[in-house]
Amino acid sequence: MKIEVKKSALESLGVDTLVVFVSKRAHEKAKSKKEDATPARTMVVEGVTRGISSKLDSASEQGALSGANNETVFFRDANISGARHLLAVGLGDPKTFDHETLRQAAASAFSALKGQKSRSAAIALDSIADSDLSAELATQAVTEGIVMANYSFTDFKQKKDEGVEKVILVSAKKSKSHETGQENGRIIAESVNFCRWLGDRPGNRMTPTMLAEEAVKAAKGTKLKVNSWDKSRIKAEKMGSFLSVSLGSTQEPRFITMEYNGASGSKKPICFVGKGLTFDSGGISIKPSGGMEDMKYDMCGGAAVIAAMVAIARLKLKVNAIAFIPATENMPGPNANKPGDIVIARNGKSIEVNNTDAEGRLILADALVYACEQKPAMIVDAATLTGAIVVALGNLHTGVFTRNQKLRERIQRAADAAGEWVWPMPLTDFHVRDMKGTYADLSNTAAKGRDAGSATAAAFLEQFVDQDIPWAHFDIAGTAWHAGDRLPYCPRKGASGAIVRTFVQLAMDTE
Ligand code: BES
Ligand code: MN
Ligand code: ZN
Repeated sequence: MKIEVKKSALESLGVDTLVVFVSKRAHEKAKSKKEDATPARTMVVEGVTRGISSKLDSASEQGALSGANNETVFFRDANISGARHLLAVGLGDPKTFDHETLRQAAASAFSALKGQKSRSAAIALDSIADSDLSAELATQAVTEGIVMANYSFTDFKQKKDEGVEKVILVSAKKSKSHETGQENGRIIAESVNFCRWLGDRPGNRMTPTMLAEEAVKAAKGTKLKVNSWDKSRIKAEKMGSFLSVSLGSTQEPRFITMEYNGASGSKKPICFVGKGLTFDSGGISIKPSGGMEDMKYDMCGGAAVIAAMVAIARLKLKVNAIAFIPATENMPGPNANKPGDIVIARNGKSIEVNNTDAEGRLILADALVYACEQKPAMIVDAATLTGAIVVALGNLHTGVFTRNQKLRERIQRAADAAGEWVWPMPLTDFHVRDMKGTYADLSNTAAKGRDAGSATAAAFLEQFVDQDIPWAHFDIAGTAWHAGDRLPYCPRKGASGAIVRTFVQLAMDTE
């Protein structure tokens, strides 16, 4: 699909469908203005031709168009100039309008275009209701909504459905802001889709080796330097905890490194760490078979980090950033970790593996130790770490664990700006105490069993991070997949690309 900005009058477009945004009318205004006194009309539209607005007004008067959030009304053969059909999409109440409203509305419009078999469309940027949102950020949000909604995973389907081929973002004014917004939005959304694609590939088609190869491929044409360590190097680097998880599988592990230098060498890098578990069977503590197929998504933290790095490089941000992705399968096998086995992490700490299904923390431990050795300005990690966070927060809010107040606030701002949802979770000395081992320094499972399972997992990770480095852990087990029942730009089933945009925003805020 092509997406581009164009300065043009609506009448001279020549597309299948013209998309216009409409809003709900504020009530007070409706009463005071005589011409708007028709009780049935609840919708307002601006920045369009007289012909279009009268068509929409009459639909609204008949109760067929309200302007509500994500409402789409399609006018087939609308008899307007410049487009064959007309699609109205609702932004809801102008008082609560923000970039997320637009992102969702654009995605809803895109689904309607697909459903109506429109091959080309133009979106009237001038119909976006007046607000505090800049033209650049509005265009970025619209672009993100469209490009993210265009994702579907069809690699293994013989029959692929035809989609929308071209989307023009049209405005009567020529503006650099529209161009910049479109460009940034496209890069960010394409990275989200790349993350989804990595997640949606099944275990046999996205092994640790393949994940490393895809990171290399995606970095082509950017300033990113990508490297990966094989099994013997991982062993030589004393990553005994990470290595132990890989031993049950015939697939070799990989430790993937991505580095981007967009600022002066003296500036400390921000560091991303992502769990790259390409298939989690549970190992010897094997998972029940029902739903086990979803454990192909267990590398979504790693995928998010890879995708965020690609976006940072393509956006040419003036930051230094490095990423570490420990990638492995977790399988039962003759050499697999057995419950009770003791492994030694890179920092010398010994760990009892009391449940081989608590493997994410084992691979992240060594990656975090290595990340700290780079003396970064901060570390953020993303991992599909615990089933407990799914119970606690569901699939919209990502749980964030950090004891660093400043970093917590920074993350909240970044997520707000990116249009994602994060929620602060507790991480205290109580949780740390729960992770003490009986025969080793630490246990990979909590003494208290399942209680506060996400917090005790975070407390375990904390044992591998230097105290003076600001660090936050994102548990994306709930948000990394199947978010499409809530968000129109996410696939109903499949990887969501969660936290890519927040990580990119964190880097932008560092510039
Ligand atoms: N990958 C899982 C966590 C997970 C569960 C992600 C559900 C997505 C959906 C992780 O490796 C795991 O198995 N965690 C265990 C930890 C427990 C054994 C302490 C869990 O949450 O049950
Ligand atoms: Mn597991
Ligand atoms: Zn896992």
